[in-house]
Amino acid sequence: MPYNPLENQGKPEDSVNRRFSVAPMMDWTDRHCRYFLRQLSQHALLYTEMVTTGALLHGDTQRFLRYHTDEHPLAIQLGGSNPQDLAASSRLAEKAGYAEVNLNVGCPSDRVQNNMIGACLMAHPALVSECIKAMQDSVSIPVTIKHRIGINGRESYSQLCDFVGQVAETGCNTFIVHARIAILEGLSPKENREIPPLNYEWVYQLKKDFPALEVIINGGIKTLAECQEHLRHCDGVMLGREAYHNAYLLAEVDAALFSANHMPPSREQALRAIRPYIEQHLAEGGALHHITRHVLGLAQGFPGARQFRQLLSTQVHKTQDPLRLFDQACDLLQGR
Ligand SMILES: Cc1cc2nc3c(=O)[nH]c(=O)nc-3n(C[C@H](O)[C@H](O)[C@H](O)COP(=O)(O)O)c2cc1C
Repeated sequence: MPYNPLENQGKPEDSVNRRFSVAPMMDWTDRHCRYFLRQLSQHALLYTEMVTTGALLHGDTQRFLRYHTDEHPLAIQLGGSNPQDLAASSRLAEKAGYAEVNLNVGCPSDRVQNNMIGACLMAHPALVSECIKAMQDSVSIPVTIKHRIGINGRESYSQLCDFVGQVAETGCNTFIVHARIAILEGLSPKENREIPPLNYEWVYQLKKDFPALEVIINGGIKTLAECQEHLRHCDGVMLGREAYHNAYLLAEVDAALFSANHMPPSREQALRAIRPYIEQHLAEGGALHHITRHVLGLAQGFPGARQFRQLLSTQVHKTQDPLRLFDQACDLLQGR
């Protein structure tokens, strides 16, 4: 699907439109997932899973950077806290053609905390600023940050303002704010997405106190009506779990949030559209379920939905003829 930057409503110096984005999600928003989501919305900005600088610089670099050009507009999220490594990783990302590079300051997992990655960095605004500065100095694509409204021990609104203010001094203009704190000890990453209460008011207040910044709100958003409401207070909305589990929501995004006038694809059309991509993946030795595990959410609330999910989650591992099974799954979506 063509990506036309001229249609962007973003600022002239930053051609990425962040009015609606799909959140970075480890193990979920891989390249196959993003390719599928792109069939549903031409305008949603898509984020990669977090890639650590260690993996990118010392691992299988090409595998971590790989994407299909149809995935654009596409941003990469990095995890790290070494300014030189983040600068080098940003350069690789820019060279690979990503439209934006984002720094993860929101992930609460123990594993990443030990490496000074993610939400624990909210306690170190000077280091985060140094990282962002190094990234900005190394690339000409926009550098953005995704963070929480706080962490345990740094939970006040003034500490949030202090963090945002310091990072903004580097020239970083875009702040994606997950509207809950992260509790760095005792909660799993999953619990940290559910237990600390959402506080949208602080994100709205941040936009009021820093009107020149682009503030994107994230956390617990489930419907386009909720998106519209948040957009009265913030510059953009980012959806994670709902966009994944109920991907068909994206089919309405272009018309509802980007004033696009093309017809949204049906579920069946969106799924059939990825057939050539699947053929290619199979030809390269890949498996059907690598891709179809991300489409299960298309089937909700209609006769045949269960059979669809069963085909693509159970039978998919047994079949000798994956394309035939895929076509059967498409047939179950007929007229949907
Ligand atoms: C499975 C999963 C993996 C995630 N991985 C990342 C990640 O790599 N980087 C990140 O910044 N946030 C990650 N998150 C958090 C989401 O980006 C998002 O901030 C969070 O889910 C709240 O938004 P939501 O309520 O719309 O899902 C992850 C969330 C989930 C569910």
